[in-house]
Amino acid sequence: MRWILGMALAASLSFSGAAWAQDCAATVEGNDALQFLQQEITISSSCDSFTLTLKHVGTLARTIMGHNVVVTRTADYESVAQAGSSASIDNDYVPPNDARVLVATAIIGGGEETSISFDPSVFEVGGDYTFFCSFPAHYVLMKGKLVVE
Ligand code: CU
Repeated sequence: MRWILGMALAASLSFSGAAWAQDCAATVEGNDALQFLQQEITISSSCDSFTLTLKHVGTLARTIMGHNVVVTRTADYESVAQAGSSASIDNDYVPPNDARVLVATAIIGGGEETSISFDPSVFEVGGDYTFFCSFPAHYVLMKGKLVVE
């Protein structure tokens, strides 16, 4: 487990450079060990459209080790994650028509990749947001901070 944590730290540091702040795209990677390799994403409110990409760098199927990225206000994160666990995989484990869900990708399995583009003005600059995987029980470990600049 130690080497995986080391990789996660290295990935997190490489994503914290100032050059990334102006990008209108970010990538989050998830693996077979219930981890996101990035603990923080920064989105720029000056972008007309922001694209978030999720790469599953593992090999397990989406029904076993599926991952998505869901963004909510941090205050809503646990309750939405629990509601997501009760939603079916057909709903990508996201509660349907839930206004607390600000952004959500599809659930994908190992070797797959998915992207979603959204208007960053749904986020408040300096607001407190959390991104997480809503596959049942994953949110406890698979979560990070979404910073809006
Ligand atoms: Cu997951």
